[in-house]
Amino acid sequence: MSIAQGEFVGALDCGTTSVRFIVFDSFANIIAEHQLEFTQYYPRPGWHGHDATEIIQVAQECIAGAVSKLEGKGWSGKSIKTIGITNQRETTVAWHRISGKPLCQAIVWTDTRNKGEVTAYERKLNEVGFEVEDGSFDRLLTAGINMIERTGLKLSTYFSALKLHWMIQHYPEVKEAHESDNLLFGTGRLMGRLCQSIRLSPLCNLTGGAAANGLHIIDVTNASRTLLLNLNTLEWSHSLLRFFSLKPSILPRIVSSSEVYGTISSGPLEGVPIAGIVGDQQAALVGNKCFAPGEAKNTYGTGAFLLFNTGHEVIKSQNGLLSTVAYQNGPGAKPFYALEGSIGVAGSAVKWLRDKMGLINSAAEVNVLAEKESTSGGVYFVTAFGGLLAPYWDTSAGGMLIGLTLYTNPSHIARATLEAVSYSTRAVLEAMKADSGVELRHLKVDGGMTNGDIVMQIQADIGGFDVVRPEMRESTALGCALLAGSAIRLFGWDISKPETLDKVNTAGSTTFSPKLGEEERASGWKGWQRAVEKSRGWED
Ligand code: G3P
Repeated sequence: MSIAQGEFVGALDCGTTSVRFIVFDSFANIIAEHQLEFTQYYPRPGWHGHDATEIIQVAQECIAGAVSKLEGKGWSGKSIKTIGITNQRETTVAWHRISGKPLCQAIVWTDTRNKGEVTAYERKLNEVGFEVEDGSFDRLLTAGINMIERTGLKLSTYFSALKLHWMIQHYPEVKEAHESDNLLFGTGRLMGRLCQSIRLSPLCNLTGGAAANGLHIIDVTNASRTLLLNLNTLEWSHSLLRFFSLKPSILPRIVSSSEVYGTISSGPLEGVPIAGIVGDQQAALVGNKCFAPGEAKNTYGTGAFLLFNTGHEVIKSQNGLLSTVAYQNGPGAKPFYALEGSIGVAGSAVKWLRDKMGLINSAAEVNVLAEKESTSGGVYFVTAFGGLLAPYWDTSAGGMLIGLTLYTNPSHIARATLEAVSYSTRAVLEAMKADSGVELRHLKVDGGMTNGDIVMQIQADIGGFDVVRPEMRESTALGCALLAGSAIRLFGWDISKPETLDKVNTAGSTTFSPKLGEEERASGWKGWQRAVEKSRGWED
C-alpha cells in the first residue's frame, strides 16, 4: 500500500472511565480512533480513585493504536499536524516535583470522602469571615455567596481544593512534599501530566525538559474547576490559597485553551505540537459549535453536564448553577464564560445496573430493557450516589429507588434510570430559565448515553422541548481538536470566526420532539420533585 501524506488533527479525550484518541479530517470525519477503559477504584463507600500512571499508559496505547489504524488506511502518521487534549475535570492528582511520580491515587471528581472538610470549611467561612485580596476581612453572611463571587463554584466535595486538602491531611508523603515545596498539583493537570509524559517517563518529556524545570501548565477551563481561580481576573487567588492552607508552589501556570504549549518529544507523534487543552465539558460546548451567547449543550457521559454560553460576561446564578470559563481562544483573548448545571450521575447509573446489579450485560442493553415498558410503573430513581449536585447541591441526599411495588420489574427500573438523568436535566434547565428568563426551545446533546433513541425520546417528553442529536457525536474530542487546529490555523480554522468552521461536522442530526401530553409531563415532574425531597437529609 502506498503511504499518503494528509492533514489531520488528533484529539486525546480522557474521560472518567475511558481514554480515546481520535483522528479527524477538516470536515470532522473520523479517520481513525482507538479507545480503552481503565481501572476504577471504589475501596470504600463514597471513595473513587484512579491510577494516574495507568491513565498515562492507556493514553499512549490509544495514540499508538489510532496511529497504527491510520497507517493501516494508507496515511502516514506524520499527517497529524497537531493534537488537542481534553480531560475529566476536578479529578485531583498530586505528584512529586523531582520524581514526576504520583504520590497517591488521584481522587476522582465523583469522590465524596472529603465531606468532613466541606463542613469544616463552611464553618470556617461563617466563623472567621473571609480575607479579601487586599488583606482586610470581608464578613459575608453566607459562605456560598463568597465562593460564588470569587470562583463561580460552591464549597462542595466536587472541586479540587478540598480534595487536595484531604490528601495533604491524610497522606504523609503528600504533606511532606507540600511542606518542602515539592508538591505539584493538577486537575486538568492530570492531562498536563499526560501530555508531558507521552513517553511514559518523568514529567516534561513532552518538551524534553528536566522534571525540575519542565512544563507545569493548566488551561483556564480546568483552572476554573479548582476553587482557587478568580473567575474575573483568571488569576490564582492567593487569599483562597491561604484560606485552604495551600502553598502557591503547588500551582501550575495558567494558559489559554488554544495555543502551542510544546511539541511531543518522542513516540509515534514525535514533533507534533500540542495546541489545545480544555476541560471535557467545555470541549463539548466548542465541539457543538455553541459559540454564541445563549447556545447550550448537554453531554451525557459518566455524569451529565449542561453548559450555556454566556459570552464574555460572568453570569452569577441565583438558582444553583455554576459559573465557569467556557474557553479562551489564545493568550490574552477575552474568555468566554458559561453557566453550568453539573449532574453527578448519568451513564454511571447504567454502569451500576450492569456491574453491580447484573441487570444488563452491556450498557446499550439498558435501552432494550427500558423499551419493554412504556412507563416506569410509578418508580423514581434518585441517583444521588454522591449526594446531589446542580441545582440542589446537597451532600445529605442518599441514592433512592422509590415507588416500588410487587408490579415493579427490571424494565421499570431500567426506565427509571433513564428518566433520572432526564429529570435531572430538566431541573437544571428550570434553574437556567429562572436565571436567564429564557426558555430553551431545543437542546443539543452528545455523549455515549445519547446513542439510545429511547433515552432521547424520554428526555424530550420529560423536558417538553426538542432534543437535537448530531450524527457525529464525538463532540468532546472534536472541541479540543478545533481548539488545537485553530491555534495553528490548520484548515483555516479560527474559533473566533465561526464561519471558518462552516464545513465542520455537517453530517446532519436527528430531532426528538415531545410526544407526552402536558398533564402527564406535569405529573411526572411533580413525582420527581417529591422523590428528590425524600432523598434529602438521608446522609449525615
Ligand atoms: O466534571 C466532571 C466531568 O468533566 C466528567 O466528564 O465525560 O467523564 O462524564 P465525563
